[in-house]
Amino acid sequence: MPSPADTPRDTTETTETTETSTSPASRANGAELVRFENVTKRFGDVTVLDRLDFSVDTGKHVTLIGPSGSGKTTILRLLMTLLKPEEGTIKVDGAYLTHEERDGTLVKAGEKHVREVRKKIGMVFQQFNLFPNMKVLRNVTEAPVHVLGMPKDEAEVRARDLIELVGLSEHLDKYPSQLSGGQQQRVAIARALAMRPQVLLLDEVTSALDPELVAGVLDVLRDIAHTTDITMLVVTHEMTFARDISDAVLMFDNGRIVESGPPDKMFSEPEHERTREFLATVL
Ligand SMILES: Nc1ncnc2c1ncn2[C@@H]1O[C@H](COP(=O)(O)OP(=O)(O)OP(=O)(O)O)[C@@H](O)[C@H]1O
Ligand SMILES: [Mg+2]
Repeated sequence: MPSPADTPRDTTETTETTETSTSPASRANGAELVRFENVTKRFGDVTVLDRLDFSVDTGKHVTLIGPSGSGKTTILRLLMTLLKPEEGTIKVDGAYLTHEERDGTLVKAGEKHVREVRKKIGMVFQQFNLFPNMKVLRNVTEAPVHVLGMPKDEAEVRARDLIELVGLSEHLDKYPSQLSGGQQQRVAIARALAMRPQVLLLDEVTSALDPELVAGVLDVLRDIAHTTDITMLVVTHEMTFARDISDAVLMFDNGRIVESGPPDKMFSEPEHERTREFLATVL
Protein backbone atom coordinates (compact mmCIF):
# COMPACT_ATOMS: atom_id res chain seq x y z
CA MET A 1 0.00 0.00 0.00
CA PRO A 2 1.43 3.42 -0.81
CA SER A 3 2.14 5.68 2.11
CA PRO A 4 -0.08 8.74 2.43
CA ALA A 5 2.42 11.11 0.84
CA ASP A 6 3.32 8.87 -1.99
CA THR A 7 3.19 9.39 -5.66
CA PRO A 8 0.20 7.98 -7.53
CA ARG A 9 -0.37 4.28 -7.30
CA ASP A 10 1.09 3.55 -10.70
CA THR A 11 4.47 5.09 -9.83
CA THR A 12 5.09 3.66 -6.40
CA GLU A 13 8.08 1.54 -7.35
CA THR A 14 10.62 3.87 -5.78
CA THR A 15 8.63 4.78 -2.74
CA GLU A 16 8.76 1.76 -0.51
CA THR A 17 11.99 2.33 1.37
CA THR A 18 12.19 5.14 3.88
CA GLU A 19 9.03 4.81 5.90
CA THR A 20 10.17 4.84 9.50
CA SER A 21 8.05 6.54 12.03
CA THR A 22 4.57 5.11 12.14
CA SER A 23 3.07 1.74 12.75
CA PRO A 24 0.77 0.22 10.13
CA ALA A 25 -2.12 0.50 12.55
CA SER A 26 -1.73 4.25 12.87
CA ARG A 27 -1.93 4.61 9.12
CA ALA A 28 -5.13 2.71 8.62
CA ASN A 29 -7.67 4.88 6.88
CA GLY A 30 -10.18 6.07 9.40
CA ALA A 31 -7.77 6.32 12.32
CA GLU A 32 -7.58 9.75 13.84
CA LEU A 33 -4.52 11.60 12.56
CA VAL A 34 -5.00 15.16 13.84
CA ARG A 35 -6.88 16.18 16.97
CA PHE A 36 -7.40 19.63 18.43
CA GLU A 37 -8.74 19.42 21.96
CA ASN A 38 -10.03 22.50 23.72
CA VAL A 39 -7.46 24.66 21.93
CA THR A 40 -7.42 28.34 22.75
CA LYS A 41 -5.11 30.75 20.99
CA ARG A 42 -4.88 34.38 21.98
CA PHE A 43 -2.92 37.30 20.65
CA GLY A 44 -2.80 39.76 23.52
CA ASP A 45 -6.37 40.29 24.66
CA VAL A 46 -7.86 38.89 21.48
CA THR A 47 -9.04 35.30 21.51
CA VAL A 48 -8.50 33.99 18.00
CA LEU A 49 -9.36 30.33 18.63
CA ASP A 50 -11.82 29.63 21.38
CA ARG A 51 -11.73 26.16 22.97
CA LEU A 52 -11.58 24.54 19.59
CA ASP A 53 -12.26 20.81 19.17
CA PHE A 54 -11.98 18.95 15.92
CA SER A 55 -10.26 15.96 14.38
CA VAL A 56 -9.18 14.74 10.97
CA ASP A 57 -9.04 11.04 10.18
CA THR A 58 -6.24 9.46 8.17
CA GLY A 59 -6.72 9.79 4.44
CA LYS A 60 -9.48 12.38 4.71
CA HIS A 61 -9.54 15.82 3.10
CA VAL A 62 -10.95 18.50 5.34
CA THR A 63 -11.53 22.05 4.16
CA LEU A 64 -11.69 25.06 6.45
CA ILE A 65 -13.86 27.92 5.27
CA GLY A 66 -14.89 31.15 6.91
CA PRO A 67 -14.47 34.90 6.78
CA SER A 68 -11.16 36.71 6.90
CA GLY A 69 -9.77 36.73 10.43
CA SER A 70 -11.81 33.73 11.61
CA GLY A 71 -8.66 31.79 12.57
CA LYS A 72 -8.08 29.41 9.65
CA THR A 73 -4.40 30.22 9.11
CA THR A 74 -3.83 30.22 12.85
CA ILE A 75 -4.95 26.57 12.95
CA LEU A 76 -2.42 25.62 10.29
CA ARG A 77 0.34 27.66 11.95
CA LEU A 78 -0.33 25.88 15.25
CA LEU A 79 0.04 22.55 13.46
CA MET A 80 3.31 23.72 11.93
CA THR A 81 4.47 24.66 15.47
CA LEU A 82 4.96 28.23 14.27
CA LEU A 83 2.58 29.20 17.09
CA LYS A 84 1.75 27.64 20.44
CA PRO A 85 -1.72 27.41 22.00
CA GLU A 86 -2.41 29.13 25.31
CA GLU A 87 -4.65 26.26 26.34
CA GLY A 88 -5.56 22.82 25.10
CA THR A 89 -3.64 20.16 23.23
CA ILE A 90 -2.97 19.16 19.65
CA LYS A 91 -2.21 15.57 18.72
CA VAL A 92 -0.78 14.29 15.45
CA ASP A 93 -0.81 10.54 14.87
CA GLY A 94 -1.35 9.93 18.56
CA ALA A 95 1.55 12.13 19.72
CA TYR A 96 1.12 15.49 21.40
CA LEU A 97 2.54 18.29 19.31
CA THR A 98 3.49 20.75 22.02
CA HIS A 99 3.50 18.40 24.99
CA GLU A 100 5.01 15.05 25.74
CA GLU A 101 4.16 12.42 28.28
CA ARG A 102 6.84 11.80 30.89
CA ASP A 103 6.19 9.47 33.80
CA GLY A 104 2.48 9.62 33.13
CA THR A 105 2.21 13.41 33.23
CA LEU A 106 1.95 15.86 30.39
CA VAL A 107 4.86 18.29 30.19
CA LYS A 108 5.92 20.89 27.66
CA ALA A 109 7.53 19.14 24.70
CA GLY A 110 11.26 19.35 24.19
CA GLU A 111 12.64 20.47 20.83
CA LYS A 112 13.52 16.95 19.72
CA HIS A 113 9.97 15.75 20.30
CA VAL A 114 8.50 18.73 18.42
CA ARG A 115 10.90 18.11 15.51
CA GLU A 116 9.86 14.48 15.26
CA VAL A 117 6.12 15.14 15.31
CA ARG A 118 6.59 18.11 13.01
CA LYS A 119 8.09 15.80 10.33
CA LYS A 120 4.65 14.32 9.87
CA ILE A 121 3.29 17.63 8.60
CA GLY A 122 3.93 19.38 5.30
CA MET A 123 2.70 22.79 4.31
CA VAL A 124 2.30 24.78 1.12
CA PHE A 125 2.00 28.51 1.60
CA GLN A 126 0.33 31.24 -0.39
CA GLN A 127 3.79 32.59 -1.28
CA PHE A 128 5.71 29.62 -2.54
CA ASN A 129 8.94 30.29 -0.60
CA LEU A 130 11.15 28.23 -2.94
CA PHE A 131 14.92 28.38 -2.55
CA PRO A 132 15.73 30.97 -5.25
CA ASN A 133 19.33 29.87 -5.71
CA MET A 134 18.45 26.20 -6.35
CA LYS A 135 17.10 24.60 -9.48
CA VAL A 136 13.76 22.79 -9.40
CA LEU A 137 15.21 19.32 -8.77
CA ARG A 138 17.35 20.51 -5.87
CA ASN A 139 14.46 22.46 -4.36
CA VAL A 140 12.67 19.12 -4.05
CA THR A 141 15.64 17.00 -2.89
CA GLU A 142 17.15 19.47 -0.40
CA ALA A 143 15.04 18.74 2.66
CA PRO A 144 14.78 14.94 2.22
CA VAL A 145 18.58 14.77 1.98
CA HIS A 146 19.45 17.26 4.72
CA VAL A 147 16.55 16.85 7.13
CA LEU A 148 15.55 13.19 6.65
CA GLY A 149 19.04 11.97 5.74
CA MET A 150 17.76 10.30 2.58
CA PRO A 151 20.54 9.16 0.18
CA LYS A 152 20.89 11.70 -2.63
CA ASP A 153 20.24 9.18 -5.43
CA GLU A 154 17.04 8.00 -3.84
CA ALA A 155 15.90 11.56 -3.14
CA GLU A 156 16.46 12.40 -6.80
CA VAL A 157 14.47 9.43 -8.08
CA ARG A 158 11.58 10.37 -5.81
CA ALA A 159 11.87 14.04 -6.71
CA ARG A 160 11.66 13.24 -10.42
CA ASP A 161 8.48 11.24 -9.81
CA LEU A 162 6.95 14.07 -7.82
CA ILE A 163 7.99 16.69 -10.36
CA GLU A 164 6.33 14.55 -13.01
CA LEU A 165 3.24 14.32 -10.83
CA VAL A 166 2.98 18.12 -10.81
CA GLY A 167 3.63 18.27 -14.55
CA LEU A 168 7.04 19.91 -14.56
CA SER A 169 9.42 17.24 -15.86
CA GLU A 170 10.63 19.60 -18.56
CA HIS A 171 11.65 22.23 -16.04
CA LEU A 172 13.97 20.27 -13.73
CA ASP A 173 16.94 22.45 -14.57
CA LYS A 174 15.32 25.81 -14.17
CA TYR A 175 15.61 28.24 -11.30
CA PRO A 176 12.37 29.43 -9.65
CA SER A 177 12.74 32.87 -11.26
CA GLN A 178 12.50 31.18 -14.68
CA LEU A 179 9.07 29.71 -13.87
CA SER A 180 5.56 31.17 -13.77
CA GLY A 181 3.85 31.60 -10.41
CA GLY A 182 1.69 28.53 -11.08
CA GLN A 183 4.74 26.45 -11.93
CA GLN A 184 6.53 27.66 -8.81
CA GLN A 185 3.55 26.71 -6.71
CA ARG A 186 3.56 23.24 -8.26
CA VAL A 187 7.24 22.89 -7.32
CA ALA A 188 6.30 23.92 -3.78
CA ILE A 189 3.67 21.15 -3.73
CA ALA A 190 6.23 18.58 -4.95
CA ARG A 191 8.69 19.83 -2.35
CA ALA A 192 6.17 19.43 0.46
CA LEU A 193 5.28 15.89 -0.69
CA ALA A 194 8.95 14.94 -0.92
CA MET A 195 9.12 15.02 2.88
CA ARG A 196 6.50 12.26 2.98
CA PRO A 197 4.24 14.13 5.35
CA GLN A 198 1.27 12.28 6.75
CA VAL A 199 -0.81 15.40 6.53
CA LEU A 200 -0.52 18.14 3.94
CA LEU A 201 -1.62 21.65 4.91
CA LEU A 202 -2.63 23.99 2.09
CA ASP A 203 -3.31 27.63 2.92
CA GLU A 204 -4.95 29.48 0.04
CA VAL A 205 -2.26 28.19 -2.27
CA THR A 206 -3.77 29.75 -5.39
CA SER A 207 -4.67 33.16 -4.03
CA ALA A 208 -1.38 34.81 -5.02
CA LEU A 209 -1.62 33.52 -8.61
CA ASP A 210 -2.76 35.24 -11.75
CA PRO A 211 -6.27 33.95 -12.53
CA GLU A 212 -5.19 31.99 -15.61
CA LEU A 213 -2.70 29.98 -13.53
CA VAL A 214 -5.13 28.92 -10.82
CA ALA A 215 -6.77 26.04 -12.69
CA GLY A 216 -3.45 24.27 -13.38
CA VAL A 217 -2.50 24.24 -9.70
CA LEU A 218 -5.98 23.12 -8.61
CA ASP A 219 -5.86 20.30 -11.19
CA VAL A 220 -2.60 19.07 -9.68
CA LEU A 221 -4.08 19.16 -6.19
CA ARG A 222 -7.23 17.37 -7.35
CA ASP A 223 -5.03 14.72 -8.88
CA ILE A 224 -3.08 14.32 -5.63
CA ALA A 225 -6.29 14.19 -3.62
CA HIS A 226 -7.81 11.54 -5.86
CA THR A 227 -4.78 9.35 -6.60
CA THR A 228 -2.86 9.32 -3.31
CA ASP A 229 -4.09 8.62 0.19
CA ILE A 230 -2.49 11.61 1.85
CA THR A 231 -4.52 13.42 4.51
CA MET A 232 -5.22 17.06 3.67
CA LEU A 233 -6.23 20.09 5.67
CA VAL A 234 -7.11 22.80 3.20
CA VAL A 235 -7.95 26.48 3.47
CA THR A 236 -9.38 27.77 0.20
CA HIS A 237 -11.81 30.23 -1.27
CA GLU A 238 -12.14 28.01 -4.36
CA MET A 239 -15.47 26.46 -3.48
CA THR A 240 -15.81 24.24 -6.56
CA PHE A 241 -12.43 22.75 -5.76
CA ALA A 242 -13.43 22.36 -2.09
CA ARG A 243 -16.58 20.56 -3.13
CA ASP A 244 -14.59 18.24 -5.42
CA ILE A 245 -11.95 17.12 -2.97
CA SER A 246 -13.41 17.44 0.53
CA ASP A 247 -14.75 14.71 2.75
CA ALA A 248 -15.79 17.36 5.25
CA VAL A 249 -16.05 21.13 5.39
CA LEU A 250 -15.71 23.12 8.61
CA MET A 251 -17.18 26.61 8.71
CA PHE A 252 -15.36 28.97 11.09
CA ASP A 253 -16.40 32.22 12.58
CA ASN A 254 -14.69 34.08 15.41
CA GLY A 255 -12.41 31.18 16.20
CA ARG A 256 -15.18 28.60 16.56
CA ILE A 257 -16.69 26.02 14.26
CA VAL A 258 -20.22 27.16 13.57
CA GLU A 259 -21.13 24.25 11.32
CA SER A 260 -19.53 21.22 9.72
CA GLY A 261 -20.57 18.46 7.37
CA PRO A 262 -20.03 16.83 3.99
CA PRO A 263 -19.53 19.31 1.12
CA ASP A 264 -22.88 18.63 -0.54
CA LYS A 265 -24.75 19.58 2.60
CA MET A 266 -22.50 22.50 3.48
CA PHE A 267 -22.67 24.10 0.06
CA SER A 268 -26.24 23.20 -0.88
CA GLU A 269 -28.17 23.21 2.39
CA PRO A 270 -26.17 24.98 5.09
CA GLU A 271 -28.04 25.16 8.37
CA HIS A 272 -26.58 28.27 9.89
CA GLU A 273 -27.31 31.78 8.82
CA ARG A 274 -23.62 32.65 9.23
CA THR A 275 -22.64 29.91 6.74
CA ARG A 276 -25.28 31.06 4.27
CA GLU A 277 -24.08 34.64 4.53
CA PHE A 278 -20.49 33.63 4.04
CA LEU A 279 -21.20 31.36 1.08
CA ALA A 280 -23.23 34.11 -0.57
CA THR A 281 -20.06 36.21 -0.64
CA VAL A 282 -17.85 33.53 -2.20
CA LEU A 283 -20.01 31.35 -4.38
N1 LIG B 1 0.90 37.14 14.92
C1 LIG B 1 -0.26 37.74 15.19
N2 LIG B 1 -0.35 38.72 16.10
C2 LIG B 1 -1.53 39.29 16.40
N3 LIG B 1 -2.70 38.94 15.84
C3 LIG B 1 -2.68 37.97 14.92
C4 LIG B 1 -1.46 37.33 14.54
N4 LIG B 1 -1.75 36.39 13.60
C5 LIG B 1 -3.08 36.47 13.41
N5 LIG B 1 -3.64 37.40 14.18
C6 LIG B 1 -5.08 37.74 14.26
O1 LIG B 1 -5.78 36.53 14.47
C7 LIG B 1 -7.02 36.51 13.76
C8 LIG B 1 -7.09 35.28 12.92
O2 LIG B 1 -6.13 35.33 11.91
P1 LIG B 1 -5.96 34.21 10.80
O3 LIG B 1 -4.78 34.62 9.99
O4 LIG B 1 -5.93 32.89 11.43
O5 LIG B 1 -7.30 34.40 9.99
P2 LIG B 1 -7.78 33.69 8.64
O6 LIG B 1 -9.05 33.01 8.94
O7 LIG B 1 -6.66 32.88 8.10
O8 LIG B 1 -8.06 34.95 7.71
P3 LIG B 1 -7.82 35.14 6.12
O9 LIG B 1 -9.00 34.48 5.43
O10 LIG B 1 -7.83 36.63 5.93
O11 LIG B 1 -6.50 34.54 5.77
C9 LIG B 1 -7.04 37.82 12.99
O12 LIG B 1 -7.83 38.72 13.70
C10 LIG B 1 -5.62 38.27 12.95
O13 LIG B 1 -5.53 39.66 12.89
MG1 LIG C 1 -5.52 32.98 6.37
